[in-house]
Amino acid sequence: MSQYRTAIIACGVIARVHARGWLGVPGQPTAIGAIADTNPDARREFGDFFNVGQEHRYADYREMLDKERPDFVDVCSWHQQHAEMVIAAAARRPKAIICQKPMATSLGEADEMLTACIRNGVNLIIAFQRPHHATWLQARELIRQGAIGQVTQIQLDDGGNLLNTNSHNIRLALFLMDEPQAEWVMGTVERTTDLVERGLPAEEACLGLVQCSNGATILIQGNLVRGLGQGCRVIGTEGIMELDTTHHPDSEIPDDGSMYTPEIPSARYNYEIGVVRYMNGATNGWQQVEAPWHDCWAHQCQEAIDWAEGKIEQPISSAERARAVQEIMMALYESARKRQRIYMPLKTRVNPLRLMVENGDLPVEWPGRYESRARLVRGEGMSWHQG
Ligand SMILES: NC(=O)c1ccc[n+]([C@@H]2O[C@H](COP(=O)([O-])OP(=O)(O)OC[C@H]3O[C@@H](n4cnc5c(N)ncnc54)[C@H](O)[C@@H]3O)[C@@H](O)[C@H]2O)c1
Repeated sequence: MSQYRTAIIACGVIARVHARGWLGVPGQPTAIGAIADTNPDARREFGDFFNVGQEHRYADYREMLDKERPDFVDVCSWHQQHAEMVIAAAARRPKAIICQKPMATSLGEADEMLTACIRNGVNLIIAFQRPHHATWLQARELIRQGAIGQVTQIQLDDGGNLLNTNSHNIRLALFLMDEPQAEWVMGTVERTTDLVERGLPAEEACLGLVQCSNGATILIQGNLVRGLGQGCRVIGTEGIMELDTTHHPDSEIPDDGSMYTPEIPSARYNYEIGVVRYMNGATNGWQQVEAPWHDCWAHQCQEAIDWAEGKIEQPISSAERARAVQEIMMALYESARKRQRIYMPLKTRVNPLRLMVENGDLPVEWPGRYESRARLVRGEGMSWHQG
C-alpha cells in the first residue's frame, strides 16, 4: 500500500508521462489516487490504463481537490491553465504541486502562483524534467570541476517556439551554470502568420541574447538554425560541451494501449536518454559522458517527495528557478516590443508578445489563425481554450 496519493489534473499526453514518473519512484511510495479531466474519453482511457477507480475520476478538478485532499497534485493542462489550477490546488494545501512547463504565460501569472504557494506553505515544482537526466546531472558536475574552464556562452537552437520548447533549454542553461541571475536580455521575434501554440499567440522564430551575472551569455536561436534541438552547446575558456537527447529503441518503449495517441507513444518521454560529450586540451577529441540511466521524470517526482519530507532544501526544478526562465522569455518579448535592451528585474507583468499581437504591432502578412497543436485536441475542437 502506497504512503501517498497523487491527483492528476488534465489527463492528456503528458499526464501519462507524469503518472509513469510517480509510479517509477523506487519503492512506489505514491499511488495515482484521483484524476480530473473535462473530456470523458480522456478520463475513461487514462483511468482504465492507470487503474484509477470510477469514484476517483472527476470532470471538475476543484471538486476532486475538495473531495480527495491528495498529498501531491500534478497539473498537466495547457499553459494558459497552469496558473489557475496551481492557485486552486495551493488553496487546498497539498504537500507539493508539480506543474507542467512553461510555468505560466506571463510573469504576472508566475508571481501569483508563487504567492499562492508561499501563503499556503505548499512546495511548487515546474516540470522541466531534462536536467534530471543522469548524464546531464553529470555534465553540471563536470562543468563545476572545470572540465571546459570558465563558461563563456551557452548556445540554444531548438526548432520550436519560445514558451514551448526553448523554455526547456533556457532552464538547462541556467542549471548548467548553477543558477546565475540574468542581468539583461535583448531579442527580436518574427511572426508573419496568425500562429497559436496551445491557444496562445506564438512567434515563428526568435533570437535573443541573455547576459548572466557570472559573465557568460546565453544565445537563444529559436526556430532559426538546425542544431542540437533539446540540448545545448556550452563554450568554455578551456573546452566545449554538447548536450543532446536520444531515446531507447522503439521496441523497448511501452505503447499507450487504448489511450488516444495523436503523436508519439507517450512513454518515449520517459525513455529519453540525455547524451553529453565534451572536449578540452587533454581529452584527445570528444569524450562521451556515461552515467547509469534513470527515468528523469521519476527522479523529479522523487525530489517532490524528498522536499515534502524535508530531506532536501531545494529541488532542481523549484518554481523559483522556473520563474527565472519565465522572466527571461518575457524580457525577450519585451525587448522586441520596446526595441531596446531590457534590464532585470522585468517590470512588465503581461505577456508582451500577446500585447504586440493584440495591438497590431506584429502585422499578420498571411491571415488565418491556426493552432500548431490542434492534433492533440479531441472531437470537433481545434483548441482546449475558448476563442
Ligand atoms: N515537459 C515536456 O517535455 C512536455 C512535453 C509535452 C507537453 N508538455 C506540457 O504539458 C502541457 C499539456 O500538454 P499535452 O500535450 O499533454 O496536452 P493534451 O492536449 O494532450 O492534454 C490536455 C488535457 O487537458 C484537458 N483539459 C482541458 N481543459 C481542462 C480543464 N478545464 N480541466 C481539466 N482538464 C482539462 C483536456 O481534455 C486534455 O485531456 C502543456 O503545457 C505542455 O507544454 C510538456
